[in-house]
Amino acid sequence: MIRIAIVGTGGMANTHARAFAAIRGCKVVAACDVIPERAEEFAKRHDVPAVHTDFDRLLAEVDVDAVSNVTPDAVHAPVSLRAIAEGKHVLCEKPLATNYADAAAMAKAAKRKRVINMVNLSYRNSAAIHRAHDLISRGEIGRVMHFEASYLQSWLTSRHWGDWRRAPAWLWRLSTAHGSKGVLGDIGVHILDFASYAAGDVKAVNCRLKTFPKVKGNRLGDYVLDANDSAVITVELAGGAIGTVHTTRWATGHANSLLLRIHGDRGAIVVDLDKSYRELRICRGRNVDKNVWKTIRCGPTPTIYQRFIRSIRTGKNDQPDFARGAAVQKVLDACFQSDAEGRTISI
Ligand SMILES: NC(=O)c1ccc[n+]([C@@H]2O[C@H](COP(=O)([O-])OP(=O)(O)OC[C@H]3O[C@@H](n4cnc5c(N)ncnc54)[C@H](O)[C@@H]3O)[C@@H](O)[C@H]2O)c1
Repeated sequence: MIRIAIVGTGGMANTHARAFAAIRGCKVVAACDVIPERAEEFAKRHDVPAVHTDFDRLLAEVDVDAVSNVTPDAVHAPVSLRAIAEGKHVLCEKPLATNYADAAAMAKAAKRKRVINMVNLSYRNSAAIHRAHDLISRGEIGRVMHFEASYLQSWLTSRHWGDWRRAPAWLWRLSTAHGSKGVLGDIGVHILDFASYAAGDVKAVNCRLKTFPKVKGNRLGDYVLDANDSAVITVELAGGAIGTVHTTRWATGHANSLLLRIHGDRGAIVVDLDKSYRELRICRGRNVDKNVWKTIRCGPTPTIYQRFIRSIRTGKNDQPDFARGAAVQKVLDACFQSDAEGRTISI
């Protein structure tokens, strides 16, 4: 039995708890949150025996093999490094850290301690993106020339996920002092991973970020609302292709939409997660001259939670690991630098 501690018991931790509960041979045995009642409620909801407010004490008192780090972004590095130092396997939420130096230190520490390390770039749970990666790697659409990728959310204009003005889980995402890197760090990380996993590694970026005024004085209680909420990036890939990646929290009409179009010199692929996680569309071969698209059914594919547990069992670290998380973090850092300096940055 693989014993897991979940650290940070807010919204996303429920997804982790449910995912682990559905996997045989593992059990969440401890929950930790700096807000005691949140940890207690979470433990009750998910039948977790040990409850802590201090991660060091949890490590000292509860026998765990692995840690699921579901704390806010700025807490990913300290909690993961502490867990790694104790020889625990770690599944860490995205973005891996809030800067490349921390992310690289996490990847290095995990490698040195030989613990299984994965980052929850959860759109890798879509079978379609793995199939797109395989088809493109096999040259099915020829040389990648051009791509466009977007990740659109609308929680600043819509209340489908509640009122952001009242919920700490949204407010910390709008505030750099609370460790947020804005929409770019929150979901830009997903779409940059998603697009580059299929289309190829990023070589250079030119990024524009925008933070719109939201309330009078741009402050709500402790939260100064200064984190970016729209990002537009032009990207050059190592293989020479160029493309755009854009992401925003202002995309009215889109709760959570990921779209990727990749055009090669002999075909093209579209992955649209609003339509399906298990289908992609492809135009290739004779269909290129007729602009005809075929749908390919894909999958199933194991989730990152399943991959994490399987990696612990087999000792073979699956993807996306901390090294991949750090590589994407490097691209995020380059985007911030590009926006600040108004120029293209090579990775
Ligand atoms: N992979 C995905 O698709 C996905 C989706 C949503 C959120 N996330 C990530 O999950 C993380 C948590 O997001 P959320 O929406 O659940 O936020 P949240 O604010 O609801 O939950 C975070 C919890 O961590 C607790 N916490 C803060 N510091 C702590 C510490 N030092 N030790 C223990 N607990 C601490 C907070 O009290 C809070 O309960 C973020 O990094 C976010 O980016 C990922």
